[in-house]
Amino acid sequence: MTLALGLAAVLALASPPGQLPYATYCASCHGADLRGTSNGPSLRNAGAASVDFELVTGRMPAAVPWIEVGHRGQQLPDATIKAIEAYIASVAPGGTPIPVVTAGGDVANGREVYVENCRHCHGVDADGASVGGAEWAPSLHRTSITQVAEAIRAGPGQMPRFGARQLDDRALRDVATYVFALDRREATPRVPVARDNPVPEGLFGWLAIGALALAAYAFARH
Ligand code: HEC
Ligand code: HEC
Repeated sequence: MTLALGLAAVLALASPPGQLPYATYCASCHGADLRGTSNGPSLRNAGAASVDFELVTGRMPAAVPWIEVGHRGQQLPDATIKAIEAYIASVAPGGTPIPVVTAGGDVANGREVYVENCRHCHGVDADGASVGGAEWAPSLHRTSITQVAEAIRAGPGQMPRFGARQLDDRALRDVATYVFALDRREATPRVPVARDNPVPEGLFGWLAIGALALAAYAFARH
C-alpha cells in the first residue's frame, strides 16, 4: 500500500504536467500515445481548436465510445482542461490553434456569412436542423463566441471545416459575433432525443422557459 502510494507519487512527479489527467480521462479511448484505439480516433492531428471545442462544450470526455454527445456544457474543471490541452499540445504540436475572436464584428455582414455558409444546416433561426440520417446540426443559442469560432475552424463531426480561405478572419469574427448576438434562449424543442441526450433536451428548454416565466411574474409583482 505504502509502496503503491509512493510509486504513484513518484510517477506523478516524474510525468509531465497534464499526463495524469490525460491518462485518467482520455487514454482509455484515445490511447496512452494519442494514436487512438478501437474506442476513439487518434488525437495526433486534432489540433488545439478541436481539443478545446470538444472539452468546453462537454462533448469530451465521452462516457461511451462512438456515441455522439451534443453540447452539454463543460464537464471538466478549467484547470484540468488547460493541463490536458498543454499535454496534448506537447505530445502532438501543430494543427489549428484556438482562434482568438472578440465580439464587436459587423453583425450585418455576419448574418450574410451565416446565411451563405451555415443556415442550410443549422436552420434559419439557428435552432438546429437535421443534416440527414440521424445527424443533427445543433441549436446555436448556447455557444460562446470562442466555441463558434472553434467549430468553424475545427469542423466537428459532420460539420465541414472552414479554413481561412473559405472564411477569412474578418468573416470569422463577423459570423461569430452574429451567432453570439442571437437570442440566448434555448430553441423550441425540435432536437431529436435519441441522438445525444438521455433526457430530452427540449424538456430542459421548457423547464427553463417555465422558470423564466415564473421569475418574470415574481419580478413584475414586486
Ligand atoms: C469513452 C471513449 C472516449 C473518451 C473517454 C474520450 N474520448 Fe474523445 N472521442 C471519442 C470518440 C469515439 C470520438 C469520435 C467522435 C465522432 O467522431 O463521432 C472522439 C473525438 C474526440 C476529438 C475530436 C477528434 C477529431 O479529430 O475530430 C477530440 C479532440 C477528443 N475526442 C478529445 C478527447 C479528450 C481530450 C478526452 C479526455 C478528456 C477524450 N476525448 C475522452 C471517444 C472518447
Ligand atoms: C453540413 C452541415 C453544417 C454546416 C454547413 C455548418 N455546420 Fe455547424 N455543426 C454541424 C453539425 C452536424 C454539428 C454537430 C457536430 C458534433 O456534435 O460533433 C455542428 C456544430 C456546430 C457548433 C457547436 C454547437 C454546440 O452548441 O455545441 C457550432 C457553434 C456551429 N456548428 C457553428 C456553425 C457555423 C457558424 C457555421 C457556418 C460558418 C456552421 N456551423 C456550418 C453541421 C454544420
